[in-house]
Amino acid sequence: MAAEELIDARQMSGFKPFYQFQSPTRVIAGYGLIEGLGFEFAKEGATRVLVVTDEVIHATALIDKVRAGVEDGGLEVVGIYDQVPPDSDSSVVKGAAQAAHEHGADSILAVGGGSVMDTAKLANVIFRHGGEPRDWEGYYGLPRANDGLGRPEELAPFACVPTTCGTGSEVSFAAVIKDSAEHVKFQVGDFPLYPRLAVLDPESTRTLPPAIVAATGMDAMTHAIEGIVSSEWSPHGDACALQALRMLRDNLQLAVEHPEDDAARGNMLIAANLAIQPTHTGAIGIAHSLSHPCGAHYNVPHGVANAINLPWVIEYNAAAGEDIAAKYRDVNELLGLEVGGDGAAVGHALADHVRETVRTLGLPGRLSEVGVPESGIPLLVEGAIGDGCTLVNPVEPSEEDFAELYRKAL
Ligand SMILES: [Fe+2]
Repeated sequence: MAAEELIDARQMSGFKPFYQFQSPTRVIAGYGLIEGLGFEFAKEGATRVLVVTDEVIHATALIDKVRAGVEDGGLEVVGIYDQVPPDSDSSVVKGAAQAAHEHGADSILAVGGGSVMDTAKLANVIFRHGGEPRDWEGYYGLPRANDGLGRPEELAPFACVPTTCGTGSEVSFAAVIKDSAEHVKFQVGDFPLYPRLAVLDPESTRTLPPAIVAATGMDAMTHAIEGIVSSEWSPHGDACALQALRMLRDNLQLAVEHPEDDAARGNMLIAANLAIQPTHTGAIGIAHSLSHPCGAHYNVPHGVANAINLPWVIEYNAAAGEDIAAKYRDVNELLGLEVGGDGAAVGHALADHVRETVRTLGLPGRLSEVGVPESGIPLLVEGAIGDGCTLVNPVEPSEEDFAELYRKAL
């Protein structure tokens, strides 16, 4: 049989005809790592460091510890750019790139959540290559040697200290940024965007409010479940995502209820880091397609939007075919949920479990509770259809499917 005949666009099991998995970021996890930041970042070629963060984090003792840790390694903190809002946009990216130039930085250290890390990633692109943030929209579009076919040109040394436990941006090759004028979130992804270093130290989430632990933890859960069920799933991605789900199962509630539990917070950082790994092969799904427009139009925090949308997507996908349901059975088995019955039953069991988790964590369960009006659905549907995550969902939703999913989540 010819290779082309073996290639099924939605092969949910067996030997995949092709996938490529790369996870090049050096991850260090443990206690006391902030103190050794400079020692570690120097190994990546950094000497003059611009710290990118937000005002809330800047006001905490963490930034002082970061500065001390960087300087202890003989590096210099040449500037701190702290103007990243919770839902960053293109103008902020340009501001951070400008700060890197003005301070004569040769490297960038992101200390923050997804918004900070994604801003710093794209700022690094502008810092190195210039242009406007949206000039770089899309995947694999960064400058390459040899007429665009060769190795992409490297960016400045880039490291992340995540201060939330959800996005996994510290090891991903993508950035999601809002274009406020156009009310869209656009994505930029390419190999040089993989951070060179990710530092997972529970010290960095010590002052994280429990509500943010809950919301970002649900983002991580969404990455893991969508990664396993995506048409772009891979055994490598599954291995990471299933372990992420075990760690979320054992630590999410604990970290929310006991913020002083360093081990639980540390394990949440690792869970989020593992949960994003399926995206290295492009595996994600339409909970994200539904959630991105909620953020772009109504400022719904990403993790909250995913927590609300995920259960409806699970039920929608699981009922669409036994090959898809089989992937959800793996998840249910790990979580101790019902694995028997048809796809609808399996999906319903998992969806109910997710809804119960969201409720127990104290997060909103409805889009109407977070400012999304019914009249906004057509606009949201338009965004969801155009979202890159839609292409890799195991089921291709119609416009009406998306509208129905939003109505259910409302
Ligand atoms: Fe996400």
